[in-house]
Amino acid sequence: MYSSIEQVLSGYDDRARLSEAFTIPASWYVDSRIGELERLNVFSRTWQLVARTSQLQNPGDFVSTRLTGEPIIVVRGDDAKLRAFYNVCRHHAAAVVTQPCGQATILRCPYHGWKYGLDGSLKGIPEFEGVENFKRADNGLAPIRVDTWECFVFVNLDPNACSLTSFLGGLVRRVAPLGVSKLDYFDSRSYDIHCNWKVFVDNYLDGGYHVPHLHKGLSSVLDYKQYTIENEDRYCLQSSPMVASGEDASTSATRKGERAWYFWQYPNLMINCYQGYMDTNYVIPVDVDHCRVIFDFYFSDVSETRREYNRESVDVGNRVQGEDLGICEDVQRGLKSRAYGAGRLSVRREAGEHLFHRLLAADLKARSAALVDATRVSSL
Ligand code: FES
Ligand SMILES: [Fe+2]
Repeated sequence: MYSSIEQVLSGYDDRARLSEAFTIPASWYVDSRIGELERLNVFSRTWQLVARTSQLQNPGDFVSTRLTGEPIIVVRGDDAKLRAFYNVCRHHAAAVVTQPCGQATILRCPYHGWKYGLDGSLKGIPEFEGVENFKRADNGLAPIRVDTWECFVFVNLDPNACSLTSFLGGLVRRVAPLGVSKLDYFDSRSYDIHCNWKVFVDNYLDGGYHVPHLHKGLSSVLDYKQYTIENEDRYCLQSSPMVASGEDASTSATRKGERAWYFWQYPNLMINCYQGYMDTNYVIPVDVDHCRVIFDFYFSDVSETRREYNRESVDVGNRVQGEDLGICEDVQRGLKSRAYGAGRLSVRREAGEHLFHRLLAADLKARSAALVDATRVSSL
């Protein structure tokens, strides 16, 4: 039977208390109309991580990427100001920048050679004499909002969105004491997973519920009973005291300190910290059935002498991730089963998931009726 998008959205009660709540319905993980609503109402309107500040330190440094399918570029200007633009030439829409990152004094479109300054202004137009009613000043690269927090660069495709600081809310104060900006980037890993992006986020936000069952090595360094879950604004902090002598040697050697700190910021960013260590997980929806997760690893010492240790630490992260991948793909299959509709939540463990589902429902329901308008806005 066909269900309208409004009927699908009404299948979740976002006012239910945690002790009474269900998860969002299985259909939200498999219906491509929900995926499209998320693209327009969530990923096109929230601050999204696109780069590290260390990649954009000097005038001319640039990073190009895609966000909700939109080609974008972030560039440090000659005036040291950070700017972001749609990476779309105003002539015939080619990508002006084709490398993922680098250094430039001018941005030159490879198609017909139009040139843009680092501030996005149109500088050079070959063989355009005689064109009438054309204003160079109106044909610069279209700007996008950009801002930084700690060592991260964010953009927001919505010109009317709140500031990055308001969006992050209490997360800013909570992360500050950890000194994450003192750490240096070391390496990245990318995982293509056959599951909806929300399955990965749910798995992250189950308050350690799966850790003793799925991650034996990691479990041995955490004091699982003391694991805490704290919801505020758009973030959830899961934290646990560490125990010194875990059973797994690699995990014990590379996951140290008083506490483990696991931050999630709505909708798709995780920041995991131990002493002298951070990894970020950035979850990208590919389609309703697939996502890609980018892990960036940072350490307090990335000198040559620490290379082997850091590599071992990345391998530990990689192993934990491998343990999560299989279960996420299993869950995606289960969500499609006629036997499953929605699940209940553990009050002790799954408050983070409850926050995620309520924030998402609010964004999807608030603007579902405006879907057609939103499509027009997103295409500028
Ligand atoms: S599309 Fe860029 S110069 Fe023609
Ligand atoms: Fe896990």
